[in-house]
Amino acid sequence: MTEPKPYIEFQDVCKAFGSNKVLDHVSFNVWPGETLCILGRSGVGKSVSLHHIMGFLKPDSGHVWVAYEDITDYGEPDLERIRKKVTMVFQNGALFDSLSVGENVAFPLRERGDLDEQQIFQVVDGLLEMVGVRAMRDLLPSDLSTGMKRSVAIARALAAQPEAVLYDEPTTMVDPLMAQLLGDLIKKLKFQLKLTSVVVTHDMRLAEKLADRIVFLHEGRAVFCGTPQEMTDSDEPIVRQFLKLDELDSDQFRHPGTEPGQQPEA
Ligand SMILES: Nc1ncnc2c1ncn2[C@@H]1O[C@H](COP(=O)(O)OP(=O)(O)OP(=O)(O)O)[C@@H](O)[C@H]1O
Ligand SMILES: [Mg+2]
Repeated sequence: MTEPKPYIEFQDVCKAFGSNKVLDHVSFNVWPGETLCILGRSGVGKSVSLHHIMGFLKPDSGHVWVAYEDITDYGEPDLERIRKKVTMVFQNGALFDSLSVGENVAFPLRERGDLDEQQIFQVVDGLLEMVGVRAMRDLLPSDLSTGMKRSVAIARALAAQPEAVLYDEPTTMVDPLMAQLLGDLIKKLKFQLKLTSVVVTHDMRLAEKLADRIVFLHEGRAVFCGTPQEMTDSDEPIVRQFLKLDELDSDQFRHPGTEPGQQPEA
C-alpha cells in the first residue's frame, strides 16, 4: 500500500525580504480534505505563506509542495496548471469591478469553455445560493459590502472547481455578525465539498470553528502545530500569551468600554 501524501507541504522553507527574515525554516503540511489554519500576529508571514503556495513567491531555501507536486522551481506554465487546482480568496475579494456579481462567478466557468449559457446560468445560481447572495446577481461589486464581496469571491473561487481553497483573513474588516456568517459559510463548504483548505487568520474563534489543525507562526518559526484542543492545552509560552491576549481582546469586544482584563460592571 502506498503511504498517504500531504496535499500541500512546506519543507524547511526560508524566506527573507532584505534583512527581514520572515520565514525561518518553516515546515508544515496539509492532508487532502483537511482544513489547516495558519494563526499568528500581524506581520508574521501568514499571507507570505499563502503566496508561496500559489507560487507568487519563491522560497530562498526549502521546498513547497502543492497538489502533490514540488512547485519550488516551477515556471509560469506549470504554476498556471497548479492554480487551476488551488484557488485563493483574497482579502478584498479581487472581483472584476465592471462585471456584475453573476458574471464574476461565471468567469471561471466561461474560461473552461465546456458549458452552454443555460448550464452556466444554473451553476452560477447554485453557487450564489450556496454563499447566500443570490439576490445580488445583477449588482456590481461596488454595490456590495465587504462581507458580501467576500462571499461572491468565495463563489467565484468554487466555480473553478478547485481541489483546494486558500482564504486570507476571511473575517477581518467586517462586522461580527458578517464574520460569523462567513465563518459558518466556510465551515459548511468544508463539510459539503470536502475541499482541502488553508485559512489564514488571527481570529482564534474562527480557527476553533474551522481548523482540523492549527499551525502557529511566531518570529519566522512554526512554534506550534496541532488540533485546536492541543493548542488550548499547549504549554508553549508564546501560544499561551497569544491565547491570553486573544481572550482579553474578545472580553473587551463583548463589553466595549472596559479596559482589557477589567471586569464589566454587573
Ligand atoms: N513583497 C514583499 N516585499 C517585501 N516585504 C514583504 C513583501 N511581502 C511581505 N513582506 C513583509 O513580510 C512580512 C510578513 O508579511 P505578511 O503579509 O505575510 O504578514 P501577515 O502575517 O499576513 O500579517 P497581517 O495579519 O497583518 O496580514 C512583513 O514584514 C511584510 O512587510
Ligand atoms: Mg496578511
